[in-house]
Amino acid sequence: MYNGKARAYTNIALIKYWGKKDQELILPMNNSLSLTLDAFHTETSVHFSPDYTKDSFYLDDLEQDAKATTKVSRFLDLARKKAGISYCACVKSQNFVPTAAGLASSASGLAALTGACNDALQLGLSDKELSQLARRGSGSACRSIFGGFVEWEKGDSDETSFAQKIPSNNWEEDLAMIFILINDQKKEVSSRDGMQLTVETSAYYDSWLETTAKDIQTAKEAILQQDFQALGEVTESNGLKMHATTLAAVPPFTYWSPDSLRAMNTVRRIRKNGLSCYFTMDAGPNVKVLCQKKDVSAILTELQKEFEEEQLTCAYAGKGLKSLEMEVSK
Ligand code: DP6
Repeated sequence: MYNGKARAYTNIALIKYWGKKDQELILPMNNSLSLTLDAFHTETSVHFSPDYTKDSFYLDDLEQDAKATTKVSRFLDLARKKAGISYCACVKSQNFVPTAAGLASSASGLAALTGACNDALQLGLSDKELSQLARRGSGSACRSIFGGFVEWEKGDSDETSFAQKIPSNNWEEDLAMIFILINDQKKEVSSRDGMQLTVETSAYYDSWLETTAKDIQTAKEAILQQDFQALGEVTESNGLKMHATTLAAVPPFTYWSPDSLRAMNTVRRIRKNGLSCYFTMDAGPNVKVLCQKKDVSAILTELQKEFEEEQLTCAYAGKGLKSLEMEVSK
């Protein structure tokens, strides 16, 4: 009883979520569009019990500090409220990433926790309701409920803000994303803090919102037409615009490191030489390269001229949230 376990995959936004209009409910300022990937996932189990006197949270077998546990506890409160119980819980999460280079994502983590709570508390949530609940843990997690191409409709309330799958005739199966891992010693600005500062102070934030609404339409049209060049171009330009808003924030900041620029220039060069590929970046220095499956090995060969083999990881389209059998039930 009160046990649940689930697996969720990470997703990378092609059109970014950048800014909230409601911090508490995690309502975004703009719609976003992502591709769920197969290479990075999280498996999470949760056990609620009257015997526990506090919530605990283990990540990769290590008990987490008060800050991380409080974030999980806040999310558990939402699930407890839905179930009408007050039991404390033990949460155990395992991140499956090909290397330890900081690729773990809050999207897969919070989506897996949502699925585990749904099972443990027998909430019986629909995919839409799972997405709404995952959103409260971390915005991008609401997209990891689904596989393939996903759009998060920003909505204007808890009820109306959720993600859904974009019909694509399985076109995503022809695509791939290569991760270029950039080691960076700088202290990161979290996406949560970075986007908030940008909303409040960036001179470019209004143009971000205006142009992103158009970018969503362009991307959806490209998916419908299976037009890789159009999807790649809008992905690259939307990512660059997101990063431009950070340069115009007060104080200004950037997630780019010298090697991120080197990676972006390499992608441009590979493209100029005839292999279609486009980059995007999130709230960190790593560069992600959107390409077609048929070109992966040629593009990897080119990237290996600039980067170590260990820095390169290839991912393909991944699936949505999955319930897993519980091993032992207490
Ligand atoms: C740059 O979902 O991590 O990756 O909602 O505050 O938890 P919170 O933020 P988070 O932000 C992701 C930002 C991004 C773009 C994206 O994934 O759309």
